Amino acid sequence: MKTGRDKKDNARSVARGSESAKDAPRRKPSMFPRALIDKFKKIPTPFYYYDTALLRKTLEAMRTASKKYDTEVHYALKANANVKILKIIRGYGFGADCVSGNEVRRAIECGFLPSLVVFAGVGKSDEEITHALKKNIGCFNCESTGEIKVINALANKLNKKATISIRINPNVNAHTHQYITTGLEENKFGINVWELPDVLHVIAQCRNINLTGLHFHIGSQVTDIAPFKSLCLKVNELQQWFESRHIYLTSINIGGGLGIDYYNPDKNAVPDFDGYLGVFMRFLNLRRGQTLHCEPGRALIAQCGTLVSRVLFVKNGRQANFIILDAGMTELIRPALYQSYHKIENLTGTKRNSIVSYDVTGPICESSDCFGKAIDLPVTERGDILIIRSAGAYGESMALDYNLRDRAKSFMSTEI
Ligand SMILES: Cc1ncc(COP(=O)(O)O)c(C=O)c1O
Repeated sequence: MKTGRDKKDNARSVARGSESAKDAPRRKPSMFPRALIDKFKKIPTPFYYYDTALLRKTLEAMRTASKKYDTEVHYALKANANVKILKIIRGYGFGADCVSGNEVRRAIECGFLPSLVVFAGVGKSDEEITHALKKNIGCFNCESTGEIKVINALANKLNKKATISIRINPNVNAHTHQYITTGLEENKFGINVWELPDVLHVIAQCRNINLTGLHFHIGSQVTDIAPFKSLCLKVNELQQWFESRHIYLTSINIGGGLGIDYYNPDKNAVPDFDGYLGVFMRFLNLRRGQTLHCEPGRALIAQCGTLVSRVLFVKNGRQANFIILDAGMTELIRPALYQSYHKIENLTGTKRNSIVSYDVTGPICESSDCFGKAIDLPVTERGDILIIRSAGAYGESMALDYNLRDRAKSFMSTEI
């Protein structure tokens, strides 16, 4: 499977086990056309720019692969819940993966079919569950026996039957950053395999619950095939366990997690969805009549998004040269939160042949407000436009108003 990195990069990523910025390759000239850069110069910064042609190309690639492998796709709203983006995504016939009542609300308002909405999350409130029941969503991905009991009681009040999948924690290491690993026993997500007898006992007493499937999600930014293969083998074992208890399931949901190439966003703009789903087709023993579901977030939306920013100041120190941007961790928190690498480019610097090493930082009062350390860029000056690439996923959706910052606007490529 190619997940968007070439093999060499892939091996490096796995060896690192994280998205560390170390060893980032030297920057090449930007692929952004001059006319677009001129438009960027006229817009107040910071802002998000989404290339809708690339988004559509990516969605089309996913649709083709999902049809080939007969897989139902539920876009994970948490990656980016921008209304304009959601309206484009729902046009491809995908469902939605939600983790809050407001995400369920937003998905349905943007035209996703309620029957294709799945609702995960370790802490669903009574209000959120009731709302989802009233909307007749497709499935609750349940993460504890306590939650199953509450859904049963609330469904009973509404005289409804809730369709559920059990989110199982498969104890599979996704070999990604520790903060985006979700499928290990030390993580709070899902139900442990050893708890399953108890879960079945509870479900047997819940008249308003209809168990139809199993749900998994091992982590995010997974760039290696091995964890997905391990997940398949775990699912195969679990299917046998359920069948030995005469429980026959109709849906297997493998969650999201497919990674993207943050180092080469132009070369690997569209992830290898065929290779990804092909792994599950090869290693998963699906039963007759069973549907495979997946919940990609990052892989669909990351590469089409760019955070566009202006240089406020350049400070030359003894230990480092600092670029202070008008965008900070409040707009894109991933580097501060996970030490993740994003490619940074200066679109307007005129001295392209004089390269200087900079720490690229934001204006926020936190030392972690840094997009990248020792980044080689052309000599940079106040007013230059700097862009942070591959920012479409977990960028705008994780924005904060810390320091009472204004929310950054966003523009589709069709709008400017
Ligand atoms: C249950 C679930 N499904 C899907 C996703 C989307 O993951 P990704 O953006 O890595 O595809 C997540 C992300 O955390 C998740 O928790």
